[in-house]
Order: sequence, then structure tokens, then C-alpha cells
Amino acid sequence: MYRHGVDSMIHGRTPDEKRLIQTVHDHGQEHLFRFWDSLSGKEKDALMRQIGTIDFELVAAHRRLLSGAEEADTAVHTLDPAPCIPIPRDEAGRKRERRAREIGEEAIRAGKVAAFLVAGGQGTRLGFDGPKGCFPVGPVSGKTLFQMHAEKILAASRRYGVTIPWAIMTSETNDAATREFFQEHGWFGLDPGSVIFFSQRMIPALDGEGRLILDGRDHIFMNPNGHGGSLLALYESGTIGRFEARGVEILSYFQVDNVLIRIVDPVFIGYHIQAGAGMSSKMVQKSHPGEKVGVFGIRDGKLNVIEYSDLSPEDAEARLPDGSLKYGSGSIAIHLIDTKFVRAEAEDGFRLPYHTAFKKVPYLTDSGDLVDPDTPNAFKFETFVFDALADTSSPVIMEIVREHEFSPVKNAAGEDSPATARRDLSNYYGGWLEAAGVPVPRDAAGNAAVPLEISPLFALDREEFTAKAAGRELTINGSLYLEE
Ligand code: UTP
Repeated sequence: MYRHGVDSMIHGRTPDEKRLIQTVHDHGQEHLFRFWDSLSGKEKDALMRQIGTIDFELVAAHRRLLSGAEEADTAVHTLDPAPCIPIPRDEAGRKRERRAREIGEEAIRAGKVAAFLVAGGQGTRLGFDGPKGCFPVGPVSGKTLFQMHAEKILAASRRYGVTIPWAIMTSETNDAATREFFQEHGWFGLDPGSVIFFSQRMIPALDGEGRLILDGRDHIFMNPNGHGGSLLALYESGTIGRFEARGVEILSYFQVDNVLIRIVDPVFIGYHIQAGAGMSSKMVQKSHPGEKVGVFGIRDGKLNVIEYSDLSPEDAEARLPDGSLKYGSGSIAIHLIDTKFVRAEAEDGFRLPYHTAFKKVPYLTDSGDLVDPDTPNAFKFETFVFDALADTSSPVIMEIVREHEFSPVKNAAGEDSPATARRDLSNYYGGWLEAAGVPVPRDAAGNAAVPLEISPLFALDREEFTAKAAGRELTINGSLYLEE
């Protein structure tokens, strides 16, 4: 179909490029060269460079997966509920929590904990032009997600008298814009030397025939390789080595979209250290059996997150004698990951499984027109960080209160949107104000009726707020915002 055989193309290319051109043909992907004759020298080089980043053996494995020749390893064989540390409900639980907090605080003070943000995603559902972290979400201040996270890290650094380093994973699609944003905003008061950016790898999507997709005459469509790619990227970028050199042992992993995230939570860290875990996770109770969230479970003897689509209707509905859902531990993408664990995974070759999703991917027609399809047309492949839980010994799963720690910005409207995030922030800070004796107007649904916001630099948690609020005249006038 295409005019180019290997021989006509290799003229003038380097030996490595010749091998690459041969590989492309051997893998039946020669359509990538269909605009070759019309490309300038620079464009040819760009295409060859991008092809050089592709793992064609992996592409072949994905083609086998799509053709059904290889089965996806998502089938559930045996499944048991995962044990977890519940929210303390009695004095014994609170005592355990106090002890964990002490241990966690000691580790933070000793400089053993870093913050780790994954922000390499494409944020397609939100549809915001730019990295998702630049999205303004503060209910009163209009602060961006990045600024909110930065202020929490700065506040924790001040509280514990230590610089908490912050690693931020980007991807090719948003790396430059993310770095520029931090620079423009003076790293939000953080020490620039302690904010470390690095990018994850990209991976090509495949069309229905298992072919790589051109979205430019000299460019192949690729997407970031999933948040599971963060482990490999931490290692490949040398970030793990840098952390180890400065004595960091634990990474407080979070995602860019959660406005209520508690970064470097001492209680969680304490439990993780006590258990000697390599990786640990927080969880919330599922709100109802049909909630579309993955759940923690012991699958074939190993801790894992079972995607909601892989959970049978019977298991999704099953209840324990106390009436709670048997598989009710919802995964919310908040983890602790040991630097040692990342290194061990690296030495083991990072064998996280790939998950497939059928998505809309722009493509060039044979005549070179770019089409932005209205319906899904291609398969994207991603690894998920929680799949690494299966490789860790004695992981901790800790239950938290959803309204205190989890409200993600995923969609432009409806659930998990900027509107729900602002509502949840106002409700959360409203709870602090009420605990300090400040009346908060509430609507019929019980939500704060006015926007409320307290900067992490004013108070990092409710205890600090209560102490600072004592003796102050606080009134809500249409809204309330407290800053440093
Ligand atoms: P999501 O799964 O919500 O994906 O990512 P997304 O790309 O942000 O949004 P959609 O699905 O396109 O609408 C959860 C978190 O994982 C990060 C995201 O940046 C977000 O913090 N992520 C996701 C990565 O860092 N890399 C990836 O390849 C995918």
C-alpha cells in the first residue's frame, strides 16, 4: 500500500536508524512512513527520534492482547476482603493512633519523608487548557491546585522544622508548562532546589487493527504510560538516588486533583513504619454497592485493587454480618511508597500489568487531514500504581473520613467537578469554624451556604485552627477567607 520499502528509505540514515526502519517494517507498522516523501530533513529526523523511543516488543504484546491471542490478567480467581486499620472508634483505637502519630512525626522531623505528586495525566475529562494543577479551585481565593498543594508542604515544613522535598512527575504533554508555572509563581515560597520535576514515559496507542496512529505527518500519537509509570520514572530520572542521598525513605504519593489531600500525614506514616510496609494506601468506605471505585481485596493471596468492572455483582452487593459491604474499601489513590521498594521494583524489571481503555484519539487520514473523532476509535495502554501493592510485604490499608481527605476534580461538571470540590472545601473548613464556635450558614442539604476557605499557611489542621481562632473575632460575611 505504501510506496516505501525498506531499501528506498534507508539511504542516508545512520546504522541505528536503518535497524529501526527495518523493525518498523518487521512489525507491520510501515504506514508510519506514508508521508515520508513529503517530509523535510528535520521532520524525518523528528519522526525517527520518536520511533526510537518505542518499545516494539511491548507494542507486539499489546497487539496480541487486542487480538485475543493473549489474555489480559484481570480475571479474578480467589478474592477475600482486605484487612484495614479502621477510623478509631474507641479509646484503644485512639491510643494506637496517637502512637502512630508520634512515630510519623519523628520520621518527618528527621527528614525521612518527601512529598510525591503525579501530575503527568492529560486531564481530558476536565477539558482545561493547560496542566490540571493550574486549574483555579479555591472557593474564595481562586487558588490553583498546585498552590494549594505547595502551601500544605510549606506549612508542614514549618511545623516540623525541616525542608520537605517535593517530587513532581509530569509528562511530555505538560512538563514545560508545569515548570514555567512554578517559576512564574516563585515556587509558591518553597525552596526551588527542593522541588524536583521529572517526566514519565510515553506509550503509543493502537487503532482497531493494532496499528500505531499518526496524528501528524511526522508524529505518532502517544499518551503518558499511566500513574504506574511513576515508579519507573522515579528510578530512571535519578530522583530515587537523589532522595536516598538526602536520607529520604518514604514518599507521600498523591494525585493532582484531590483538593482535600493530607500530604505527609504523620498518622499514616507511623502505621506504615510500624508495619514495615513497602507501600501502603488509604481507603474510604464505598458509599453504595454500585459506586464506580476500585476496591482493595486479596486476590489470589495478594493485596490488589479490583476495578469496579471486574467485581461480580454478587461480590459488589455482598455484606458482612455487621451490615457493611464485604468489598467496601474504596481505593482513593493516596499511598506511601518506600524509596527502597521503588529500587526493588526497578531491580525486578517493573512488571506492572497494562490496562487497556478504548478512547478518542486524533488521527491523520491518508490524505493528511487531521480528524478529531466524536467516538472512541483507539486503544490506550496504562499501568496503575496500585498494582505494585501485590509486590509489597505487610502493606497497611488505613481507613479515612472521605469528607476530610478526598474530593477529586475529574469532570468539568456534575460529580467530582470543580463545583463539588469547592463545596467540599467550604464544608470542610465550615466544620473547623463550627468547632471553634463560629456559626456557619447551611443550606437545606447541609452544605455550607457560603464559600469558606482557610489557607494551609494559616492552619494545617483543625487543632491548629482551633488554637489560632481562640480569642479572635471571626465572622462570616458572605464568605470567609483566612490567610497567613
Ligand atoms: P486520572 O486517571 O484521573 O487521569 O489521573 P487524568 O489524565 O488526570 O484525567 P483524564 O482521565 O484524562 O480525564 C489521576 C492522577 O494520575 C496522574 C494524573 O495527573 C492525576 O494526578 N497521571 C495519570 C499521571 O501522572 N500519569 C498518567 O499517565 C496518568
